[in-house]
Amino acid sequence: MSATDDIVLVVDFGAQYARLIARRVREAHVYSEIVPATITAAEVAAAKPRGIILSGGPKSVYDQPAPLLDPAVYELGVPILGICYGAQLLALQLGGTVTRTGRGEYGRTALSVTPGSPLFTDWPGDVEAWMSHADCVTGVPPGFSAWAASAEAPVAAFGDPDRRIYGVQFHPEVVHTERGAELFERFLHDVCGILPGWTHVSIIESQVAAVQAQVGGDRVLCALSGGVDSAVAAALVHKAVGDQLTCVFVDTGLMRAGEADQVEETFRRQFHIDLVHMKAADRFFDALAGVTDPELKRKAVGGLFIRIFEEVARDLGAGGAGPRFLVQGTLYPDVIESGSGSAANIKSHHNVGGLPEDLSFELVEPLRLLFKDEVRAVGEELGLPSEIVWRQPFPGPGLAVRIVGEVTPERAEILRAADAVVTEEIRRAGLARALWQSFAVLPAVRTVGVMGDGRTYAYPIVIRAVTSDDAMTADWARLPYDVVERIASRIINEVDGVNRVALDVTSKPPGTIEWE
Ligand code: XMP
Repeated sequence: MSATDDIVLVVDFGAQYARLIARRVREAHVYSEIVPATITAAEVAAAKPRGIILSGGPKSVYDQPAPLLDPAVYELGVPILGICYGAQLLALQLGGTVTRTGRGEYGRTALSVTPGSPLFTDWPGDVEAWMSHADCVTGVPPGFSAWAASAEAPVAAFGDPDRRIYGVQFHPEVVHTERGAELFERFLHDVCGILPGWTHVSIIESQVAAVQAQVGGDRVLCALSGGVDSAVAAALVHKAVGDQLTCVFVDTGLMRAGEADQVEETFRRQFHIDLVHMKAADRFFDALAGVTDPELKRKAVGGLFIRIFEEVARDLGAGGAGPRFLVQGTLYPDVIESGSGSAANIKSHHNVGGLPEDLSFELVEPLRLLFKDEVRAVGEELGLPSEIVWRQPFPGPGLAVRIVGEVTPERAEILRAADAVVTEEIRRAGLARALWQSFAVLPAVRTVGVMGDGRTYAYPIVIRAVTSDDAMTADWARLPYDVVERIASRIINEVDGVNRVALDVTSKPPGTIEWE
């Protein structure tokens, strides 16, 4: 699946760095793919990149072993930009000097650049840049010139315009670097000569064509979860193959307030997509009866979901003359994490998440080249409502892992009502997009309260709100007290069965985001 002819390869010397660079390149409207440092010059040449960026990384060029680049890559005539480790590596491999001075720089650093030099044509002499290095380049390779310096990095930028090879010690991909985005634009548009053609409109066009080519006249099935990824994937595939697509929405009874209606409204009424809506709450509550262990809850919900999906798929004729393809909302970070290196090498035929052998589908993954922010932009362009496009992540087992202890229809109703208040007040305060997740949790204890003349003995609700970039770590959100107060008083007044509200002030680690 080729997305565009203009591709920039980001060579990965440290995954977090490479990913951020790849995103910045995309933000400059150029398509980028991350490739492993072990890539050979022949493999690079086969990908026909218009530019190559060498990422930073945690290693030193003097580590044994240190990750190296196949030196023949420098002879391909493709423009190269090395960043931090990548800059030191190319300096060393091309005959320059890298020194361990014992005096590194970390964080915001003053940088003086040579005005008028390539890469920095119209920059002022002094800028602030983000640095994170122990070693530094102290001598440029033959034919190269130095164009910037900081207190501890005498060669903070260098290059050879004839060979179109450049290196920068600082991190232009980090937002704290002034004019970082401009540096990428200069490299991509001017040095590499790539037009900024990677836009959400071109993404849609290329993915629609790819889906049409893959699917032909066959039927396609898609499980909607209510989340962003499956919604955008479904809308994209629908644009490509129209009513060859059938969507399945399994209503587990463990969704947030209004979610099932929104799926109906959007997909059936707005997009006129053939939608099978399985109302299966009773079956999920039966499967969860008496289950209190978090992992057993996950197994119960996941297992039943697959069984119901399988029933629907068989009813539609899957495994025989029915749908042959299944849509999956796999994103580019999942592709990178699966360790397959290039997105082009991912298997597209395998059996999905526990479905029986005779129901094996070929996968359609229209989002597998995209980062989350691109998925959202595509979703908006396709006309999906912003409540879906900007929805916060929601776990597959749904409210089951936010109800500590047994999940019953009554307890799910209490949590759903409280969660709706949290969601509404967070949105009203304009905080929904800034928070990674914000929701209500229902613990398994009851506490004493007093309301009117009477004593109450009811559940507390915990407000959980976190900021995060990737859910691996998270910080508890400092919600304004007036928002907390509004949430608390509304929950106690509006939700029967709740007499107390608490705020979770635990970050991750040591806590997890979810309570189970
Ligand atoms: P934790 O609680 O481990 O969650 O900090 C990290 C992120 O993963 C989500 N999460 C899940 N997502 N199935 C899912 O699809 C699950 O069983 C599950 N458990 C946690 C959680 O919402 C957070 O974004």
